[in-house]
Amino acid sequence: MQLRRRGFLGAALAAGAARPLLAHASVPGLNELAAAKGMRFGSCVAWSVAGADRGAFANPAYARLLERDCGILVPENELKWQWTRPGAARFDFSRFDPMLAYAEAQGMAMRGHTLLWHKSSFFPRWLNEHDFGPRPRDAAERMLIGHIRTVCGRYGKRIFSYDVVNETIDEKTGEPRETSLSRAFGDPVGLVELAFRTAREAAPHAELVYNDYMSWELGNAKHRAGVLRLLEGFRKRGVPVDALGVQSHIGIAGEGSVARLVAQQQGPWRAFLDAVTGMGYRLVITEFDVNDARLPTDAHARDRIVADYAAAYLDVMFDYPQLRDLLVWGMNDRYGWLNGFRPRADGTFQRATPYDGDFRAKPLYRAIADAFERAAPRPT
Ligand code: G3I
Repeated sequence: MQLRRRGFLGAALAAGAARPLLAHASVPGLNELAAAKGMRFGSCVAWSVAGADRGAFANPAYARLLERDCGILVPENELKWQWTRPGAARFDFSRFDPMLAYAEAQGMAMRGHTLLWHKSSFFPRWLNEHDFGPRPRDAAERMLIGHIRTVCGRYGKRIFSYDVVNETIDEKTGEPRETSLSRAFGDPVGLVELAFRTAREAAPHAELVYNDYMSWELGNAKHRAGVLRLLEGFRKRGVPVDALGVQSHIGIAGEGSVARLVAQQQGPWRAFLDAVTGMGYRLVITEFDVNDARLPTDAHARDRIVADYAAAYLDVMFDYPQLRDLLVWGMNDRYGWLNGFRPRADGTFQRATPYDGDFRAKPLYRAIADAFERAAPRPT
């Protein structure tokens, strides 16, 4: 099987795979390869109108990639406050409900992203401007508890894992962020802890995750240290947090060869992961992609560098038996968020995800497949 798969993949990738991989059902998808080691593979997904040219489950071509490779899905945006909370007294689940129904119809598990993205730039405008009245702490507490109980109560066991809080540590200072909600509550860390305690009570079955983008590239030391302080505080005060969500938006940031970058980066990164798992936290790779904005235009050269860098990163991450789930932040380059966030000077799509803009598997696809094949089986 492995030889056939590798042979097929190798031939397909070498020949530029005129016919998309997905036409060959006999070749195991990424989630099948993961499952052989007690792991799972998945991706974020978007809502769209039927047939839209989007990274959405309602786009048949994109849905075929999801169904071929994914065992877990996560909403790219549809469960964020900016989507679910059109106002202080209103909820809107009209885009997430059909997404969850699709996942369940396909037998895929669903992650909940996110109960609180604690960063003002991603609050709905009304929340940034909200008047919390004469007793702001009580009002903030009621609002946060009400939100979490409403979402968790609506979905129950249909969501197995939540990013309860996303990105509350300022990467520049390592300090917890302040927002209108935390200023009203009076304590930014206390607010985050309230979110986790409320989620545990409202969704006792669920894996509760703190999710952030601290990374292994040089320059992330303050961010990593701030996340460690937050995780240590959770343990000290008995806050129910099960795992660290390592977003894994990695990128070729430094100069020089992949091997030299990896040699520079992996020591401090392993020390960080050792400290996190040493406190009893599990790990989840929640948003994996590889930013290639600084790489040359030639697609073959870029793909090789991206695949080699990704392979080295995944080998380090898969060394930790506490890690079982790997989700990418999008399955193909056509719809990748990086094209808007970090557009390449040459105007081409970032080649950051497993499939190219024409739905053909790339060397990064094979790097992920091979990393699963090299991974040690997870303890049952
Ligand atoms: O849907 C509207 C559309 O109707 C409107 O015309 C258009 C222009 O205003 O905006 C569209 O919404 C955009 C949405 O993506 C869907 O494309 C929002 O403006 C835009 O802010 C939003 O960006 C998302 C971003 O989070 C902010 O929420 C990205 O898609 C999404 O990939 C990104 O994901 C985050 C994770 O949630 C957390 N970790 C980092 C990651 C990357 O930033």
